[in-house]
Amino acid sequence: MSKRLKSVQTALARQKLDALLVRTFEGDNQNVLYLSNFGGTTAVLVITRKKAFIVTDGRYFARAKQEAPDFRLVKVQRGKKVTDHVNDALAMAGLTKGARVGFEAAHIPVAVAKDWAKEIKGKLVPTVHLVERFRQYKDAAEISLLKKACRATCRVYAEVVPLIEPGMTEQEVAFELDMRLRKHGAFGNSFPSIVASGPNSAVPHHATGDRKLKAGEPVILDFGGVFAGGYCSDITRTVFVPGKSPHPRMQEIYQVVLAANKAARKALKPGVKWRDYDRVARDYIAERGYADYFTHGLGHSLGLVAHDPYDYEHDAFQVGTVVTDEPGIYIDGFGGVRIEDDLVVTSDGAERLTSAPYWKF
Ligand code: GLY
Ligand code: MN
Ligand code: MN
Repeated sequence: MSKRLKSVQTALARQKLDALLVRTFEGDNQNVLYLSNFGGTTAVLVITRKKAFIVTDGRYFARAKQEAPDFRLVKVQRGKKVTDHVNDALAMAGLTKGARVGFEAAHIPVAVAKDWAKEIKGKLVPTVHLVERFRQYKDAAEISLLKKACRATCRVYAEVVPLIEPGMTEQEVAFELDMRLRKHGAFGNSFPSIVASGPNSAVPHHATGDRKLKAGEPVILDFGGVFAGGYCSDITRTVFVPGKSPHPRMQEIYQVVLAANKAARKALKPGVKWRDYDRVARDYIAERGYADYFTHGLGHSLGLVAHDPYDYEHDAFQVGTVVTDEPGIYIDGFGGVRIEDDLVVTSDGAERLTSAPYWKF
């Protein structure tokens, strides 16, 4: 039985729950993959203190059997409701109407929760962050997969930079990134690639379009893939279109953002909280006069999704936290710079997973 499943079963007892329902619908909940290793898009896990079931439909019987050996397969039959099968699983675990059955409040739409309350035999109890709490801290196997994902993503960057030239459109650059991510092992993008050129680089999450790149202007490349095991990369580099020297102010902004990125990385270690990590980069940028131009958070947790769940307000970093470090300065009508690295917290600091070089003017 996997350590992850065991941890959740132990947490059930602590929270006075007899079972937990973990549902993914159209792949909207990576907790299913995390706990069961089932990578399909639709399933309900029924986890009790001692047993574990996976309820899924005919598209996924073979995969559930193969990918989730710790879970007993409950086959959805045509004409029956998923909740009928959830009830079957609860009964097989010896649970009756009085059982306290947790469901993930962050992942279940209100309409589904209402149906479940009527149809599932047991007292439904909303849970928050129960599984996510474990996902915050990556083990050695997860870190190894994240390292591989980042290495491949940096290879993509190295291949694409020399292709960038005046006249190319943002979309054409994005296509090169996406195609090469797949070539280097990604199963998909961890989010739609952002290619933001010239004045568009002042828009932190610009919608990549058909604007043509011009010599000397900045281009923000923000991209990542979903690699083996479902682990994601997320990197940003700001590059400059060849043919003309970049504007001196743009060069200055680049150096400020890069120094802020490095300062934050240096400050990252076990025990530090998010707001203090964020403050290091924010203070640095503010001291250089750009306080109003760094308009988003310094980063986020990274794992099975690009923005992995994390209790940003309360939890301190521990060994195995994987975060992004992505300060930026955005000047409306002029342009912007963002530099994003993926970092893993180690016993005495942090290690950079994204080794792609920074720009040299
Ligand atoms: N591309 C999304 C992010 O960097 O957070
Ligand atoms: Mn990014
Ligand atoms: Mn990011």
